[in-house]
Amino acid sequence: MQVQKLKIAPSILSANFARLGEEVAMVTRAGADYIHIDVMDGHFVPNITIGPLIVEAIRPVTSLPLDVHLMIEHPERFVGDFARAGANIITVHEEACVHLHRVVQAIKEQGIKAGVALNPHRPLSAISEILPEIDLLLIMSVNPGFGGQQFIPAALDKLRRARQMIQETGCDHVELEVDGGIKLHNIADVAAAGATVLVSGSGIFKSEDPVKTIQEMRNALNALAVQE
Ligand code: DX5
Ligand code: ZN
Repeated sequence: MQVQKLKIAPSILSANFARLGEEVAMVTRAGADYIHIDVMDGHFVPNITIGPLIVEAIRPVTSLPLDVHLMIEHPERFVGDFARAGANIITVHEEACVHLHRVVQAIKEQGIKAGVALNPHRPLSAISEILPEIDLLLIMSVNPGFGGQQFIPAALDKLRRARQMIQETGCDHVELEVDGGIKLHNIADVAAAGATVLVSGSGIFKSEDPVKTIQEMRNALNALAVQE
């Protein structure tokens, strides 16, 4: 089995947008692995956030991969724009794509990684056929749309089943990401359940000392790795 490094992905949704460049630089220096960027359109989710211009503005500030989470309808219309803006991973919601296979291929044709996200109510069986084609599976542990929501506990069992599915199908290259309500107190739990990319927005940016929080998250993940 391929062992993947556990990655911390700060979500800039909870950053100070007036100082976005500095915030991205800060979490980069603190040892984050990905910069998670939440794109919302006011249709697929009841909130509007950022577009390709912001991704382009962040690109020169960090050498970390930009992990772009599209919570939008018809994401196929924007794959090219976000890829050109500097995205390294584009994740689309399974529920938002009538032709998911085609969208995944379109992302990969841009020479970047393709992810697929599942909302809390959607079954893992919805992505079983596409699993070998993707680079990342994102399990939502809140209903998408806002930062600072409560972690949905059922996500832990879903992560365990997703990990099992990845192993049983020999898709060990697929990163398993979890997003929503992840904080210092539960980051080790989601990693123990099988997640390898841990998104945290308010848990990092709204903490008293985001740099220290990332270091403490890293320690919690390292302690887990030692136990195993
Ligand atoms: C929710 C977004 C998340 C959000 C997570 O719709 O996809 O990435 O920023 O925020 P927290 O970590 O505060 O739950
Ligand atoms: Zn997200």
